[in-house]
Amino acid sequence: MKAPAAANCTWQAKGNDMQATLTSSTNYQPAAYKPHWVREDFVDFVLAKINPLWTVTRTMARVENIEYIEDDMVKVTLSTNHLLNRRFKTFKAGQFIMLTVTIAGVRHQRAYSLVNTPENYAKTGRLVIGVKRQGRVSNYLAKQAKIGDVLEIAPASGEFMLTEEATPALFISAGSGITPIVPMIQQALERSKLPVTLIYYSRDPAFRMELETLAAAYPQFDLNIIVDSAEKPAFFDVETLERICPDAATRETYVCAAPGLMTATRKIWESFGWSDKMRQESFLPIKVDENAEAQLVNFRRSQREFEAKGNLLASAEAAGLTPTYGCRMGVCNACVCTKVSGSVRNQVTGEINDQNNVQIKLCVNAAISEVVIDL
Ligand code: FES
Repeated sequence: MKAPAAANCTWQAKGNDMQATLTSSTNYQPAAYKPHWVREDFVDFVLAKINPLWTVTRTMARVENIEYIEDDMVKVTLSTNHLLNRRFKTFKAGQFIMLTVTIAGVRHQRAYSLVNTPENYAKTGRLVIGVKRQGRVSNYLAKQAKIGDVLEIAPASGEFMLTEEATPALFISAGSGITPIVPMIQQALERSKLPVTLIYYSRDPAFRMELETLAAAYPQFDLNIIVDSAEKPAFFDVETLERICPDAATRETYVCAAPGLMTATRKIWESFGWSDKMRQESFLPIKVDENAEAQLVNFRRSQREFEAKGNLLASAEAAGLTPTYGCRMGVCNACVCTKVSGSVRNQVTGEINDQNNVQIKLCVNAAISEVVIDL
């Protein structure tokens, strides 16, 4: 007998023999078209061949300008694609973006502070980042990137920003810690006539021109640039604070600097009982303390246990694990995970966290007891 042309054919095992069984073609349905099977990353791949700014999932930006503002600092101006414009409705002065570049076939990510204000972005559609020439990505941006290059960026994030209410403000900064502070100062000056003071330590002060222009335009802005050198380093202490900003107790204080200055200011503010009036952000990746006492850390889901010294991210990497990370300095939240049990110390704020089942950032927390992480 001739089998129907469209019949389905299945095989059944009978003892050692295989035998074909024909089933009726009356139930045959062609497979439904499933557009979600077209993977978005494949669409992105195809679109990028036509125009690297066209994507459905990734937010991309085009390099519009690269300008040296000091020997080792550049300003990079970026225009954004349609998707980013939708996601990037606005940002807050003081926030940063994560930027991804591919160097020699390897993707690298780094956080950069936005140095223009949200108001300026709304007017121009341009994002401006401050790039200090240090590290692989920054050197690439300063030396190799060209106008017209397309880079992947993530919408702004970060919690270092002005308080909702306008208050008298004191800003303390050093080196490239000035980058998030420049737009914060500008916004503070534009939103009220309350006094704003900046204490800025630098051997090669970036944004000097912008800051001096603001000081000339706003009489309430007290600009203090302290140019020091390796031979004559300057230190921040109570005497400096009382000389430059005697009413610091009445101000909201914002600090962005390397760990030494962050610690010095934190100790002074703690000693005066003003800690709740200070906001801090570090701009350097947190280093592993080689001399720290090792603690046993368990990554529960990976079923891995290792000895950790210093921050948990670097310790996990040293143990061969690959937790997700971005900035490595506690600002982007990429490495946030749940601490199931144990105590950790935040290396930026000095805070000890001994609660169970709380979110911590691996890159800025060090174990000070046995710790279990849900990762
Ligand atoms: S890597 Fe950015 S917060 Fe930890």
